Amino acid sequence: MRQAGRYLESYRKVRAQHDVLEICKTPKLAAQVTVEAAQELGVDAAIIFADIMLPLEGAGIGLKIVDGGPQIDKPVRNNDNKVVEKLESFVPEEDVPYVLETARLVKSNLDDGIPVIGFSGAPFTLASYLIEGGPSRDFTETKRIMYDQSEFWNSLLSHLSNMVSSYLLAQVHAGVDAVQLFDSWSGCLSPVDYEEFVLPYTKRIFQQLEGRGVPRIHFGVGTAGLLDDMRETESDVYGVDWRIPLDEAWKILGDDKVAIQGNLDPATLLSNWTLVESRTTEILSSVKGRRGHVFNLGHGVLPSTDPLQLKKLVRLVQRTTRR
Ligand code: CP3
Repeated sequence: MRQAGRYLESYRKVRAQHDVLEICKTPKLAAQVTVEAAQELGVDAAIIFADIMLPLEGAGIGLKIVDGGPQIDKPVRNNDNKVVEKLESFVPEEDVPYVLETARLVKSNLDDGIPVIGFSGAPFTLASYLIEGGPSRDFTETKRIMYDQSEFWNSLLSHLSNMVSSYLLAQVHAGVDAVQLFDSWSGCLSPVDYEEFVLPYTKRIFQQLEGRGVPRIHFGVGTAGLLDDMRETESDVYGVDWRIPLDEAWKILGDDKVAIQGNLDPATLLSNWTLVESRTTEILSSVKGRRGHVFNLGHGVLPSTDPLQLKKLVRLVQRTTRR
């Protein structure tokens, strides 16, 4: 996750000349940083260089990506600026053609054996950026609207859900081998709120993507208390973070039915190699012999990570699992 990120020299070189949105909108550059990151790290899959905010921007919602994250020009509190209509008119091939072109370029520039992962932000996570205007700790405005303006909330989430489905489907048509839904911030919700205000919309997305020949990955952070509900989306793979042991997560999600992706704490990579090695070995031995474990970090690589640690980690996992 966050393969290109800020910690790779190859990415920083490109980044010194262009801002994040510019890289995303220039398929040649976006494909280049994707391929370079995957090859340099030696990982077994590549995630296309894009950002979860791109379809919103493509739909005509003004935003910037600054240090620290996305920033919405006019945070959304109601439909005064016609956000619902903007989302409704979203057509991936017209509004974000560069993402689809990046996917095609990455597919043709990477070795055949390396699958390419397309992705999208999930409705709640996208709504939280739209409403808060940027990253948030408590999501108070988002929750206020969710609780008090149910009609607007339903309309917003419903249109985000349609946008996300069509965006992911377009990536599948462009040739990605798997799709990942980043519901990065829904872990801030109680199970009842998740069930009522979020689950119906994510469920629809996974239904739309069923039977398309690509595994569907459902990623969240801090979702240990929500896994039982998330299971209802019937996705193929669940991404879990380090706050829950993988075997416990598996019990909740259904032992034989799903694959699990995770779950090393990215902060361990800031520590010494002995610690990284021991935490990684613990994870791998806790799932030993089980089909369907995808080793990954529980969340994105932190900006100050030494790429050497990551390369050693990739090698360690490959050595241990390819016996
Ligand atoms: O190889 C890669 O880095 C993958 C491409 C990728 C980016 N964003 C590019 C990016 C991916 C998969 C994302 C997803 C994304 N973006 C998520 C979901 C994943 C998650 O972390 O939960 C979210 C929530 C965002 C929103 C976002 N964009 C944030 C919070 C930030 C700033 C925080 C940070 O880690 O730097 C961004 C900016 C952003 N998107 C960067 C990159 C590489 C930072 C790069 C820079 O400033 O050059």
